[in-house]
Amino acid sequence: MKTITTAFASDHAGFRLKNELKEAMEAWGHHVLDLGTHSPESVDYYDFADELAACLAVGTAQRGVLICGTGLGISIAANRHGHVRAAVCHDVTSARLTRLHNDANVLAMGERLIGVETAKDCLKVFIETSFEGGRHQRRVDKLSPPTA
Ligand code: RB5
Repeated sequence: MKTITTAFASDHAGFRLKNELKEAMEAWGHHVLDLGTHSPESVDYYDFADELAACLAVGTAQRGVLICGTGLGISIAANRHGHVRAAVCHDVTSARLTRLHNDANVLAMGERLIGVETAKDCLKVFIETSFEGGRHQRRVDKLSPPTA
């Protein structure tokens, strides 16, 4: 079976939660790739979202986790890329439904808005839930139309 790699990236405002989640994933036996940032020094979320999108494009990772202060800026930056479906989730129901219905390949969260244990629960549900397909496939296809 092909190993799935999950890439993690954050800005300074998501640095601590990103590390906590990466460690949790490793403890659950998953393969992870840490794209930084690697310190609380101020950086721009845009650059880390772009780095993670590039990893998904070339297949270095198959899914991603993006953390900034709110999860908003970094998800907006990531969703500029047609192959990225980043969903901001701060509850497990959203995390489950965005996998079932949107086939989200990136989970985004805000360190300033969520506790560590809830974030871990969201991540676990996100990685354990499969896309439902069916009627949702047509809608997901429309999110990423083929480029001419
Ligand atoms: C950084 O201060 C903060 O603006 C950023 O992490 C994020 O919350 C933006 O959407």
